[in-house]
Amino acid sequence: MARLMIAHVAAAAALALAGPALADADAAAGQKAFQGQCSTCHAVTPGTNKIGPSLSGVVARPAASVPGYKYSAAMMKSGLTWTAGELDIYLAAPKETVPGTKMTYAGVKDATKRSDIVAYLATLK
Ligand code: HEC
Repeated sequence: MARLMIAHVAAAAALALAGPALADADAAAGQKAFQGQCSTCHAVTPGTNKIGPSLSGVVARPAASVPGYKYSAAMMKSGLTWTAGELDIYLAAPKETVPGTKMTYAGVKDATKRSDIVAYLATLK
């Protein structure tokens, strides 16, 4: 089930990147969730780092690659690339996925909300 969800999210985000069609993940709902849960720490404009790094263009970029942002050693060594699937796993449980991360956030337990947030992240240039 978890694997199916991840495959589903990956497919939804791939569609989001490819064009207007977007399976059934809801980027508008994701944007609302993002504003409620992530925007205190994350800007979506390029080059604006807050407590966390800018998430502009985050989908498909390597972890810990925003210039000028001071990442934890754990994130720098994670070797992750933020595909939709990795984002889904990370956002479900940040501290389990990257032990030692300085993102002090418990995670998004709801799979639908997570896929909506990832769909929104995929719209960020
Ligand atoms: C309390 C502040 C805080 C909140 C809330 C928060 N984050 Fe973070 N986030 C951080 C910090 C700090 C880092 C850097 C982690 C590190 O270096 O270990 C980070 C890192 C990340 C990264 C990796 C970025 C990169 O460049 O490698 C992603 C993706 C991310 N956060 C997404 C989210 C999303 C989506 C939400 C909301 C669901 C969220 N974060 C909520 C503080 C936060």
